[in-house]
Amino acid sequence: MEFSTLIFEKQENFAIITLNRPDKLNALNNQLFTELDTIITKIEKDASIKAVILTGSGDKAFAAGADITELHECDSRTGKLFSEFGSGVMARLENLSIPVIAAVNGFALGGGCELTLACHIRFASNNAKFGQPEVNLGIIPGYGGTQRLPKIIGKARAMELILTGDLIGADEAYRIGLVNKVFEPSELMAKTIEMVNKMLSKGTLALSAAVDAINASEMLSPKEGLDYESRLFGRTCGTNDFKEGTLAFIEKRKANFSGN
Ligand code: COA
Repeated sequence: MEFSTLIFEKQENFAIITLNRPDKLNALNNQLFTELDTIITKIEKDASIKAVILTGSGDKAFAAGADITELHECDSRTGKLFSEFGSGVMARLENLSIPVIAAVNGFALGGGCELTLACHIRFASNNAKFGQPEVNLGIIPGYGGTQRLPKIIGKARAMELILTGDLIGADEAYRIGLVNKVFEPSELMAKTIEMVNKMLSKGTLALSAAVDAINASEMLSPKEGLDYESRLFGRTCGTNDFKEGTLAFIEKRKANFSGN
């Protein structure tokens, strides 16, 4: 399937989605969200895809935000729909039961930053810049920034970033826990793939259960969350991967997981 705003590449057991409007710094327009939504459905239906990497094309931007030319046309009614559409697509990405990793290769501003927040893990190149500059446009973040950012970096830091619209570099993003690791631009993709391969060498059913359980921690009460974890733990104990993983430990050899 061909897409005009995204590149979808399927490797052996993971997929790479590249935001592909480099002349517009990969700004997120309606077409891009529609295509991303289609790709998420495709990934949900393809059991051979066990992880997703999201990145931006070109060497300047992951995504410089929602497309401001489209945004400019909004009024209060359509603005709400604009927000709900992008926000819904990002929630679908976040709720995939496989690891979703952002490889942030430049500007991640506004909706671009929010898209990285919907990913489970963020790796960045040392030239990446993060920010929620919406207040400069007279609006607030509309794709989950006010909800996810405080959970990731804490309320006071989220307030500061969102209320000032300031941009921060990759080192500061690392210092405040916004990104997991920082690499040279030339190393970003290789290191991200290395980490994905490391994850995929484990029991992939366990990876999915872990993603689901951690995601649930944001929606359930502590008691419900612990009950949910026990249910998923029990489910993983019924897998061949569990038998193989524990037997390999007992036999002092490397586990050979089948993903069943
Ligand atoms: N929406 C639509 N187009 C965008 C865009 C956005 N969010 N961000 C960048 N672009 C476009 C520019 O209009 C320009 O297009 P043109 O060449 O047709 O004029 C192209 O991408 C390159 O951007 P430019 O501003 O020339 O690059 P720069 O290096 O001078 O500045 C930024 C880079 C990221 C600082 C600047 O583009 C910017 O501030 N973008 C908007 C960021 C923002 O407010 N995002 C939140 C949106 S809610």
